[in-house]
Amino acid sequence: MKRNFYCADLRESHIGQEISVCGWVHSRRDHGGVIFIDLRDRSGILQIVFQPENTSIFAIAERLRSEFVLSVKGKIRQRPEGTINPNMPTGQVELLIAELEILNTSPTLPFEISDYVETSEELRLKYRYLDMRRPNFQKNFIIRHKISQTIREFVNKEGFLEIETPFLGKSTPEGARDFLVPSRIHNGSFYALPQSPQIFKQILMIAGFDKYYQLARCFRDEDLRADRQPEFTQVDMEMSFIEENDIMDVTERMLAKVFKEVLNIEIKTPFSRLHYSEAMLKYGSDKPDTRFEMFIADFSAELKDCKFSVFANVIAKGNPVRGLCIPKGASLSRADIDKLTSFVGEYGAKGLAWMKITANGAESNIVKYFSETEIKTIISKLNAKEGDLVVFLADDVKIVAQGLGALRIKMGKQLELIDKNKFNLLWVVDFPMFEWNNDEHKWDALHHPFTSPKDGETLSKDNAAKAMAKAYDVVLNGVELGGGSIRIHNSEVQKKVFDILNISEEAAKEKFGFLLDALSFGAPPHGGIALGFDRICALLIGEESIREVIAFPKTQKATDPLSNAPATVSERQLKELGLRITLKQANK
Ligand code: AMO
Ligand code: AMP
Repeated sequence: MKRNFYCADLRESHIGQEISVCGWVHSRRDHGGVIFIDLRDRSGILQIVFQPENTSIFAIAERLRSEFVLSVKGKIRQRPEGTINPNMPTGQVELLIAELEILNTSPTLPFEISDYVETSEELRLKYRYLDMRRPNFQKNFIIRHKISQTIREFVNKEGFLEIETPFLGKSTPEGARDFLVPSRIHNGSFYALPQSPQIFKQILMIAGFDKYYQLARCFRDEDLRADRQPEFTQVDMEMSFIEENDIMDVTERMLAKVFKEVLNIEIKTPFSRLHYSEAMLKYGSDKPDTRFEMFIADFSAELKDCKFSVFANVIAKGNPVRGLCIPKGASLSRADIDKLTSFVGEYGAKGLAWMKITANGAESNIVKYFSETEIKTIISKLNAKEGDLVVFLADDVKIVAQGLGALRIKMGKQLELIDKNKFNLLWVVDFPMFEWNNDEHKWDALHHPFTSPKDGETLSKDNAAKAMAKAYDVVLNGVELGGGSIRIHNSEVQKKVFDILNISEEAAKEKFGFLLDALSFGAPPHGGIALGFDRICALLIGEESIREVIAFPKTQKATDPLSNAPATVSERQLKELGLRITLKQANK
């Protein structure tokens, strides 16, 4: 046994005991003849003291450098008066060294192992093993482990079976691009890595497994952001003979348990529910951050006859004019407002109309176009006060919602309206089945094409715009934690949905024929949900990016600086796969 304790386990109750610990040299301080080492392992830090009387060991101590690996034995003693550190769990004690073995050495580090050192992301990922030695980082992974164990314990008690589904499969339509794997045995054919286990978990229900779960790895080739990785983990669940409420209930109890076990926070259940249309209108988002108010208001009815032609023309075309009140925004300069205009411009907005609310009423270049009644309506609907700024977007509904929704979040952060200690969990429900794709002039599924309509009987191409889905998303503090739906379990309804989505019968057969077949053999009513596990971890820990809770994440450009993936392969491998590279990568 090289050790019988972890560093951070030692307390005053161990004073006088001979113990041994192992770990890394976190720091070394030379205090006029006495050398102190902070020894670090997974549990934390213990202070080791080297006194000059023990000449042989003292000589070794002088050679120790950061991140050398040590095995040490000695006696735990009380720290002398004045050297006690009440901020450390082991701050009352220290180890007076008796024996020391250097198990390994280390060259000078590319960056210091400290929670407070700023290092570029590229360097952090290249030396991920050093990055992960940082104490806070280790804590993140201990919490991640605790969250996954809590979830497993919960679903096991609820009677879910853990079943694995394949990585090498066929495309699953979750709306992202697939990662493809060429087949050696069948040259010219490709497997698609799963964007989710969606089709397989439905087939498991048809197979009669009743309740399935998996901490499933998913792969999506999409643009990366703070909360998006090309491979990520879902808490994936599916149940038979259930309704929306059953899935929502089990999800709420699971999340409540995670919050209780991990943060000791009581989450109120049932979570509140918000209609999709209300979320889009009031928050400009299908994942509203409800920790602060600042609601968007619609003026399409009230301003339809206004004299400001930009608004009147947009409303005449059936599109909305909506506004947002920025508290204390009247002090913003023209240049500041120009910046807000370019910010909403990123969402496609052609301008940003505004009015400052002053003691004399509304003031701006466009106020002259509005009647007193119209101004009054604006002020009262937005609950605007003297000193506020109201802004408007007039455009198609998507641009208006996204632009004002993003502006709402930006201003909420900037004005510090968001209480960081709040955890607002809610359901967004009553989603439309389909979303019109203006570029391609066709309907897209808002969730995925296996989502059940509320009314499958009467569904047709003609009423597609109005069709509602049995779908639900769970949202935490403005982040989509998860989403799910009741599935179509009737192959006729499934065919109708494919038809509306312009997926021809041949194409449907080619792509999902196996699911359609399976649905025809006595499929039970079923539904499920998938929660973004990395997002749950990041939000509970309070990290901005899911990269901080994933051991080996990819960079923004989808590379892994540690292993240098992706990489070229040998000619022989390409030949076996029947592939030839014809394009030199532009960014090489
Ligand atoms: P959906 O596509 O909404 O649903 O995914 C479910 C949840 O997975 C998380 N997520 C991601 N996390 C990190 N990086 C990504 N690139 C990423 N993409 C998604 C989100 C999201 O809410 N099969 C359906 C679920 C179902 O219907 O049961 C599905 O995958 O938190
Ligand atoms: P203009 O008539 O182009 O001088 O615009 C007057 C004001 O309306 C400016 O503040 C523009 O930014 C704003 N504006 C122009 N187009 C829109 C629009 N589609 N939605 C909201 N405001 C707009």
